[in-house]
Amino acid sequence: MWRLKSTSNMPNEAFVLDPFQFAGPVLRSLPPETAHRLAIHAMRLGLAFPENEASDPILACEHWGLKFANPIGLSAGFDKDAEVMGAALRLGFGFTEAGTVTPLPQPGNPKPRLFRLTEDQAVINRLGFNNGGLTRFAVRFAHLDRSAPKGPAGANIGRNSSTEEKSAIADFEIATEVLAGLVDYLVINISSPNTPGLRGLQQRGRLEELIGRCVEARARGMCSDAPPPPLLVKIAPDLDESAKRDIAELALEANIAGLIVCNTTIDRPATLKSQFRNEAGGLSGAPIFDCARNFVAHMYRLTDGRIPIIGCGGIGSGDDAYAMIRAGASLVQLYSALVFEGPALVSRIKKQLAERLRGDGFACIEAAIGVDHCKTASARARINIK
Ligand SMILES: Cc1cc2nc3c(=O)[nH]c(=O)nc-3n(C[C@H](O)[C@H](O)[C@H](O)COP(=O)(O)O)c2cc1C
Repeated sequence: MWRLKSTSNMPNEAFVLDPFQFAGPVLRSLPPETAHRLAIHAMRLGLAFPENEASDPILACEHWGLKFANPIGLSAGFDKDAEVMGAALRLGFGFTEAGTVTPLPQPGNPKPRLFRLTEDQAVINRLGFNNGGLTRFAVRFAHLDRSAPKGPAGANIGRNSSTEEKSAIADFEIATEVLAGLVDYLVINISSPNTPGLRGLQQRGRLEELIGRCVEARARGMCSDAPPPPLLVKIAPDLDESAKRDIAELALEANIAGLIVCNTTIDRPATLKSQFRNEAGGLSGAPIFDCARNFVAHMYRLTDGRIPIIGCGGIGSGDDAYAMIRAGASLVQLYSALVFEGPALVSRIKKQLAERLRGDGFACIEAAIGVDHCKTASARARINIK
């Protein structure tokens, strides 16, 4: 946000001007992909309203040995080519995830392939992993300025659409090996609905093989004694119950350090109003929030709260982020709400989340993770939960 000095006599008073109030309608009058490209350019040029305030200390947390100034992350798909990782952290995000990147550059699906469902505060995309490929992506990670602002930067990896089904796992191995020494965490994305066959990797046997081979690739890619980046798996909300159970069991047995719950859905809630509601692709934004939060709660229960979960899907306020955390998310991510609310949303979410935590008597964010699962009144009273 831009802060202008007040001319009144009130000390410390400032008019807070959110340039998105002016830029937002202009951006939304453009085709969605053009608006997105402009936003990326603005961020690259440093024009995207950097936040000046440090995050409230109550929001600080640590997972996988990584320090987060706050638990609000930019989810994959916004910064597909790792162009604006530093700028995302400057906007106030506590962490950022670039990608999905595939080994080779690919153009993605034919346009139009991105739709704003304004009446529903939602987005449908069938981009199909359009990206500039692994080499350029890795170079950008290698040159990322780690001095300030600090915050974990992860990479989300996928497979090329031209890769034959039998070689799909090799795509993940290549990306893991190249990126292992450069990133703070790695996300194996097997949940995009827009790459035929990709979601099949969520089946138990294939996922087991995929994780095993990525763990070996990660070891090959490490050229120092530094701890290797944790491997996370991003899953789809459309999984059936047995697949959810399989993934939870595997997460507890195998080398899966965390789950991202969840990606976009192919489901179309009956409440959608927009003319674009029946476009093919993955739906994201406000209409998927309840489903995503319930899915987080379910995976938290299935994994006994032992695997950190990044809750993602429809988050657009501090209350949403708080509900996700109470349901079992250790961290949260968002993308679609930014399209409608602009970058000042990040500050608003952090402020409201800190207020909710204090209001409910929590001394730190970690104490709130999964509290909705403490069923008994005495257990809730012990940790002072309302
Ligand atoms: C335009 C768009 C592109 C996306 N691309 C990716 C992607 O490349 N990889 C990925 O893992 N998720 C991708 N996602 C999914 C988001 O990361 C996120 O999981 C999903 O949108 C739910 O969060 P939201 O409701 O806050 O947007 C994309 C989402 C959108 C809206």
